[in-house]
Amino acid sequence: MVRTVLTRIALALAVAGLPAAVLAAEAEEPPARSWPHEGIFGRYDRAALQRGFLVFKEVCSGCHSARYLRFRDLEGIGLDPDTIKALAAEYTVQDCCDDAGEPFERPALPSDRFPPPYPNEQAARASNNGALPPDLSLIVKARAGHEDYIHALLTGYEEPPAGEQPPREGMYWNRYFPGHWIAMPPPLSEGLVEYPDGTPATVEQMASDVTQFLTWLSEPTMEERKRTGIKYMLFVLVLTGLFYAYKRKLWADIH
Ligand code: HEC
Repeated sequence: MVRTVLTRIALALAVAGLPAAVLAAEAEEPPARSWPHEGIFGRYDRAALQRGFLVFKEVCSGCHSARYLRFRDLEGIGLDPDTIKALAAEYTVQDCCDDAGEPFERPALPSDRFPPPYPNEQAARASNNGALPPDLSLIVKARAGHEDYIHALLTGYEEPPAGEQPPREGMYWNRYFPGHWIAMPPPLSEGLVEYPDGTPATVEQMASDVTQFLTWLSEPTMEERKRTGIKYMLFVLVLTGLFYAYKRKLWADIH
């Protein structure tokens, strides 16, 4: 009896462990990096966020949408309202509708969403060899390994190991992508953007900046959440002290 139970437990554990083992064989763990926004006192680095937005705008947004980003949200990375207004006006959006009931095009406003590169999924796949570039709004939260993974993915393109063939045309070998073959061409190359603050645009720098921007995009209110947490902890600490003092006073004469 005991033996059957034990065998069953062992079997269940083996089965439960299987998918993890298979996945581990396919994807390499991204190296852990340290980020300025980590830890309870961590804050976003505004200069990195602005550089990261530039990379997103000039490179990634050619294929990826960020549907939850409105232009005015960019105040969160430190852009002022006039800059945002001018930035939005560089884009054209469809509005509904003129007096004849026809949709019309107009320059974007700060309240508009960042326009997607393709009108629909089919068009996105048609331009990307059948693969769909995912929306990047929540990508940092959506992937195991979070910002470490995104950074590793962007810098993880290599020559495939000898003898490995792409499953189909137009796929690239990446050390950190699960299964290794990815349909996204290496998006970054030395000097691809020009940073207005003069930071040299190395692949490493752009990957780090755009990853920080995407982390902010996944959780723009992180700093507020941490501040609230710290305030709450302080409150609990003070309250504990008060109750302790009260208890000492209350029980002082009772022996
Ligand atoms: C030429 C088009 C193109 C550009 C430019 C591009 N991507 Fe991609 N990206 C893709 C495609 C296609 C996929 C889907 C790949 C797949 O499923 O094999 C993808 C997938 C991804 C993924 C998801 C990987 C996963 O784990 O599923 C991330 C993250 C990503 N891209 C980030 C970026 C960032 C950041 C940039 C800008 C630096 C960028 N991409 C630029 C086409 C592009």
